[in-house]
Amino acid sequence: MIRAVFSFPPGFLWGTATAAHQVEGENRDNDFWAWEQEPGRIAEGHRSGPACGWWAGRWAEDLDRAAESGQNAHRLSLEWSRIEPAPGRVDSAALQMYRDILEGARRRGLRPLVTLHHFTNPNWFVERGGWINPEAPSLFERYVETTVGILQDLADEWITINEPNVYAYAAYIAGAFPPGETDLAHALDVLQHLVLAHARGYAAIHRLQPTAKVGLSHHYRGFAARHRWNPLERTVAGMRHRLFNEAVPRAVDDGWLGLPGRRIHIPQAARTQDFFGLNYYTTEAVAFDPRRPRELFGRSGYPRNSDLSPTGFIANSPEGFWRALVWARRFRLPIRITENGVEDAEDKLRPRYLASHLRQLWRAANFNWQIEGYYHWTLVDNFEWERGWTQRFGLWELDPATQARTKRPSADFFADICRRNALTSEMVGRYAPEIFDDLFPSGNAGRVAFLPAAEG
Ligand code: FCB
Repeated sequence: MIRAVFSFPPGFLWGTATAAHQVEGENRDNDFWAWEQEPGRIAEGHRSGPACGWWAGRWAEDLDRAAESGQNAHRLSLEWSRIEPAPGRVDSAALQMYRDILEGARRRGLRPLVTLHHFTNPNWFVERGGWINPEAPSLFERYVETTVGILQDLADEWITINEPNVYAYAAYIAGAFPPGETDLAHALDVLQHLVLAHARGYAAIHRLQPTAKVGLSHHYRGFAARHRWNPLERTVAGMRHRLFNEAVPRAVDDGWLGLPGRRIHIPQAARTQDFFGLNYYTTEAVAFDPRRPRELFGRSGYPRNSDLSPTGFIANSPEGFWRALVWARRFRLPIRITENGVEDAEDKLRPRYLASHLRQLWRAANFNWQIEGYYHWTLVDNFEWERGWTQRFGLWELDPATQARTKRPSADFFADICRRNALTSEMVGRYAPEIFDDLFPSGNAGRVAFLPAAEG
């Protein structure tokens, strides 16, 4: 039987992505931990608690899982509040723990990609105003300098800040992350400070490690007009795209941060990426809503008949991923998919989500675009921010109470892909048969008009 093989380039990086607060547990000195203690902040009153027990040592067994399933890379983050629990005071025990984890990853053949800021902030930093404070970028730079100075023999690929757009939106517009504000003007100030912090972090890392590869993780969300014919909806979708998707990537490309009604010159930010980190989950349909000025007059939803995740959080939209790749390519940098995945406790949607997104990634890689790697979100179910434990993104299921891990079928599927450095028709037939005909249309099924009918 002839089998179709979607091969990826030799040396392609396959891994999963994690974040400190979501997996470590007992991260008591940051703003999110404090937020979790307040009633009504987290779905069903959930708390991160011991999370996935990484700080208590379970990182080792989870990295075993990653390595044993054929992965060769891992994206993880460092917790600023552990490394610098008080202003200017460095906790060498915390840094030693991160040294152990990074050595452990490397020993297992997992190339580390290290994020320096993934949503959480030390409490002392928040007491000084957090990211609203114009001094935030220099405080961040000091932390980066110390941390990279100590860990540089173990890692040379860094992400300064995870999803500046999501952070500014969730913490300062939606009020879902601490400090829980709903103030567009503050969100725009924060965005500006995050861009500057990235630029300073980028320069600091390169002073220490001239050959390091440094980038950001950009969250790209597809925005489509709910009705194509509706000019108002198209305008709102376009505004959201420009602010949410484009502002930060452009600022770190040409040094100009384009905000509604003004452009801010941040010359230090120009050309401060060595690769383009892209996080893609979904594409939404935008309706016009005059009552939502803070959200640029848009109301989000998903088109009817969408292939929705169990909590309705994500619509499976691989075409949107393709558009994201086409868009990201404009920045003329090697691309890494630093997050992509879906919450799906029963693992019904995940296999087809994975297959259909990797098929788009394969198209891009085989157009000879520089696609370097893919980090699936995530390895083991973790604490999903304001959604608590209600959303399960792991290849492995976790029972947070007992810490028991159970492999989902997608873990085997992803392992086959990583080991083979390819997605094959045989794998799709086994793990996601419901989309087999979409991925491999056959003339016999009459789905491909240009194929001649089979002989005989
Ligand atoms: C991204 C975050 C990550 C995780 C996924 C589901 O926006 O970077 O921490 O919560 O969403």
